[in-house]
Amino acid sequence: MFSLKDSCLLKLSDLSYLELVYILKLASCLKKDNPIAKGNKILYDKKVALIFEKDSTRTRCSFEVASFDYGANITYLGPFGNQITHKESIKDSACFLSRIYDAIEYRGHKHKAIKVLSKHSIVPVINGLTDSFHPTQLLADLLTIKEYYSYYMFSKVRIVYIGDVRNNVCNSILEASLLTGLTIYLLALRTSWSLKFYIYKSQLLSQKAGGNVFITEDARVGINSINYIYTDVWVSMGESKTLWKRRIFYMRSYQVNILLLLRANNINVKFLHCLPAFHDNKTTIGKHIQKAYSYIYGMEVSNEAFYSIYSLVFGQAVNRMFAIKSLLASIGLY
Ligand code: CP
Ligand code: NVA
Repeated sequence: MFSLKDSCLLKLSDLSYLELVYILKLASCLKKDNPIAKGNKILYDKKVALIFEKDSTRTRCSFEVASFDYGANITYLGPFGNQITHKESIKDSACFLSRIYDAIEYRGHKHKAIKVLSKHSIVPVINGLTDSFHPTQLLADLLTIKEYYSYYMFSKVRIVYIGDVRNNVCNSILEASLLTGLTIYLLALRTSWSLKFYIYKSQLLSQKAGGNVFITEDARVGINSINYIYTDVWVSMGESKTLWKRRIFYMRSYQVNILLLLRANNINVKFLHCLPAFHDNKTTIGKHIQKAYSYIYGMEVSNEAFYSIYSLVFGQAVNRMFAIKSLLASIGLY
């Protein structure tokens, strides 16, 4: 069996194209043969530590369900109730945890922290999201795309990522372009292109790899004949709540709504979002934004677009579990 034994996944580009395809193919198989996969306790008696310095629903549940299905045990280490970073450094935590667990998942703030964790860990470390990257999200996203296009067609797929082009999900999308040749259009107001370095670097590398990354603030250029429209929140976890006012001002004309989806000139265009999404006022933050900024139309995506026939968001979210299940099997904890 092809194995990424003992590999860490800190960012998507830690994988080769073949390793990525292997993980996606295995995830597709696990999805099809789910009842069999459930009885397949390949990680029986293995132990996985789940460190979450930030909140999570999908990533945490996906790691937990995947581990349960494989017969592995998990320990959830949340932002409180343990010593990590408050009283014990990441290095010392890695030295201890990796001696009693078989793998460590880490969701935190600075990407530097997960690098230290993996440097001092003797078992695989998987990035469950940092401020810079969200690789397991992209495994699920590529699996979702793969359900409509074959691996060999990745280079023909055109995606628009619209909104906050500086964030972790966008960085990982750029990495996906480098690996697979997906064409990515970043659509955002010019003033928010602050991570120019990363964007230009990706452009350079992706063009070498046969992929393409373009950045524009003009929706007419970016959207036409696109296959997928992807967005994410305008203010990410760990960023100051005071940024909302400015971000709404800059980004409101980059909302995914029905009008924007129609501009794709493609009746098969699909909408992707990593979730959670601010599309209504049914959440605490949604209510606060509505009240504080008199903004009632949803944030990065309108309610209509979110629930529209174009939207794949819940299937995409379920694919998190299958992608993570495949990853756990592939890094060879057994
Ligand atoms: N997409 C994602 O990572 O969701 P959670 O924050 O709920 O884990
Ligand atoms: N960019 C978002 C992704 C959440 C899954 C954040 O970091 O909050």
